[in-house]
Amino acid sequence: MNIVILAAGMGKRMHSVLPKVLHPLAGKPLLSHVIDTARKLAPTRLVVVTGHGGEAVREAVGAPDVQFATQAQQLGTGHALAQALPLLDTSVPTLVLYGDVPLTRVSTLERLTAAAGANQYGILTVTLDDPTGYGRIVRDAAGHVRRIVEQKDANEAERQIAEINTGIIVTPTAPLAGWLAALKNDNAQGEYYLTDVVETAIAAGHAVVTAQPDAEWETLGVNSKPQLAELERVHQRNVAEALLVAGATLADPARIDVRGTLICGRDVFIDVNCVFEGDVTLGDNVSIGPNCVIRSAQIGAGTRVDAYTHIESATVGANAVLGPYARLRPGAALANEVHVGNFVEVKNANIGLGSKANHLSYVGDADIGAGVNIGAGTITCNYDGANKHRTIIEDNVFVGSDTQLVAPVRVGRNVTIAAGTTVWKDVPEDTLALNEKRQLAKTGYVRPVKKKKS
Ligand code: UD1
Ligand code: CA
Repeated sequence: MNIVILAAGMGKRMHSVLPKVLHPLAGKPLLSHVIDTARKLAPTRLVVVTGHGGEAVREAVGAPDVQFATQAQQLGTGHALAQALPLLDTSVPTLVLYGDVPLTRVSTLERLTAAAGANQYGILTVTLDDPTGYGRIVRDAAGHVRRIVEQKDANEAERQIAEINTGIIVTPTAPLAGWLAALKNDNAQGEYYLTDVVETAIAAGHAVVTAQPDAEWETLGVNSKPQLAELERVHQRNVAEALLVAGATLADPARIDVRGTLICGRDVFIDVNCVFEGDVTLGDNVSIGPNCVIRSAQIGAGTRVDAYTHIESATVGANAVLGPYARLRPGAALANEVHVGNFVEVKNANIGLGSKANHLSYVGDADIGAGVNIGAGTITCNYDGANKHRTIIEDNVFVGSDTQLVAPVRVGRNVTIAAGTTVWKDVPEDTLALNEKRQLAKTGYVRPVKKKKS
């Protein structure tokens, strides 16, 4: 099968410089949703027709399996499809999708293409309470489709028809060039309507069949920000529903956003207002507190992530405790039972089994062994102003509060570092590291007193 995605429209009502089909839904361009759906149907040819912002569209969704055709002027849906003709395999049918209709299910498209088979013309239709604005499906007394009439060209009786054209069609490809070439634009919009092909196909002896989606939202398009917001909520509701059905507990299915893929083990709990981006995997019994942002991460079984924790491109072992207010940045790799507490930032660092950094620390470009305790306010000074260097802390080290580790530096196993130490030289194992400092106590000291305003 060939699949053609029409995406040349400019999307004036989005009031944006970004081409309409590149506006994101669930963090991904509308058009990418359609391309991903198309791929699941394993097309032999996949063609995107671009027009407005064509360069940006090609750049954003370009891939080896996607070909592009250009429609320089938007002269109508029939004219748009004609631009793709030279790229199609005439021996198999062509399915037409729309770059601004992002949520059509694969099963619906399979139903349509199965109904049409190799030689019939298939239309995805839906019956709406309010069909205003859509092309209407005109059937004869026997119920056979005769033609499609656009809202602007319809008479009063035709406007009463509630069954509408979603725009998604499948057609035999060999006769298509002739049918499209025969289109005229003598209609209310002065456009070459793809919908007019229906009558030509019937005249040429091809039966016209219809199929319906399971849900109306599958056929909804995006022309404006309100419609985009509406479809975003539809999508998020669907994702939440799927998570619930698979066994996750969501404190509120209306307050979770998944912009990517979220895979949950058994007995996962997710509190309100969490955002998941990229590919995120949560192991069994993971619990996520409210207001967490988790992007491209794997979190091991039994781990608890407390409120307001941010995680990006990181891995966390089992039975760890993170947050509240922890931040794992790219390259953070935490072993089992690690604790990372409030206002602790970890970047490009390995932290070994059972180690803890519970308060107010920066751990960057570091390799930390097992059983290490990182005291409050500890900083790895990883950056010398030009280059980054690593800090190595071996097993069972105790790092006193307010320690600075000036990298590159190595701290051997079982070392104790006194509070407030600046460690700028390697420390051999089993030793105490401290800086010489004196504490003075001056007698007779008088604190300054605030001057009175005159
Ligand atoms: C079209 C259908 C109408 C259907 C409706 C469903 C026609 C003539 N009418 O109407 O029956 O009910 O969709 O939403 O087909 N496009 C191009 N190039 C063009 C014109 C359109 O690429 O020259 C693309 C647009 O970007 C859009 C899609 O085709 O994604 C539909 O175009 P639009 O003008 O919105 O069609 P409607 O007038 O709504
Ligand atoms: Ca139009």
